[in-house]
Amino acid sequence: MQNDRKLIIAIDGYASSGKSTLAKALADALGYVFIDTGAMYRGVAYFSYINGLYTKDSIHTEALIKRLDEVHLVFGDPITGNDRPLLLNGENINDPIRSSEISALVSLVAVIPEVRTKLVDLQRQMGTLGGIVMDGRDIGTVVFPQADIKIFVTADLDIRAHRRFIEMRKHMPDITLEAVEANLSSRDEIDTQRAIGPLKQAEDAVLFDTGLLTRETQLEKALTLVHELLAE
Ligand code: DC
Repeated sequence: MQNDRKLIIAIDGYASSGKSTLAKALADALGYVFIDTGAMYRGVAYFSYINGLYTKDSIHTEALIKRLDEVHLVFGDPITGNDRPLLLNGENINDPIRSSEISALVSLVAVIPEVRTKLVDLQRQMGTLGGIVMDGRDIGTVVFPQADIKIFVTADLDIRAHRRFIEMRKHMPDITLEAVEANLSSRDEIDTQRAIGPLKQAEDAVLFDTGLLTRETQLEKALTLVHELLAE
């Protein structure tokens, strides 16, 4: 029998594995709120970028930590469905956080324990009432280890790089497939190796290989997990 329990659904996985696409479609189908936690880490990277708290390959960690109280991130009102702008101190930063400069800095920001603590606290507050689909790297392991459903999304690096390349080429005609693949591979390395909240599949997560499943099949499989749980 169907019930109206509001679930917490955690979707973790590799960069450009298609987890946000699945998370958003699932949230839309269920009437849940979608929260893209990668955007929040990108928001902190963007703050570092506009305030000059970085050099080419490094972040000025101490300076950023001192200024973390100045970082106020909220998701604004929906534009359509679950497309909500991320606001940094009131400014819509949805577009600039997707640039290659921010993609290069974000994993460096995400290893800083103080940054993780701040964002994990914020993510837990956003999820207290349930009715959310949250995607990231550590949602099922650290943010909500008690999540009702956990999905871990993966796909081969060349498939992910190709998808991301097609997406980025629309805004950056000069970008190369090699540069995209190098960025993904370096982020995979940093994300899986960091000491706090590393990317790893939770023991109780269901694995989805998006290289082998169409978007429709992924959504169907995810909805089946939800319906089975709600029927218990
Ligand atoms: O999902 P994304 O590619 O936009 O995420 C950007 C970066 O943020 C990613 O390289 C690692 C970091 N991240 C994280 O450390 N923890 C999360 N929950 C989400 C993202």
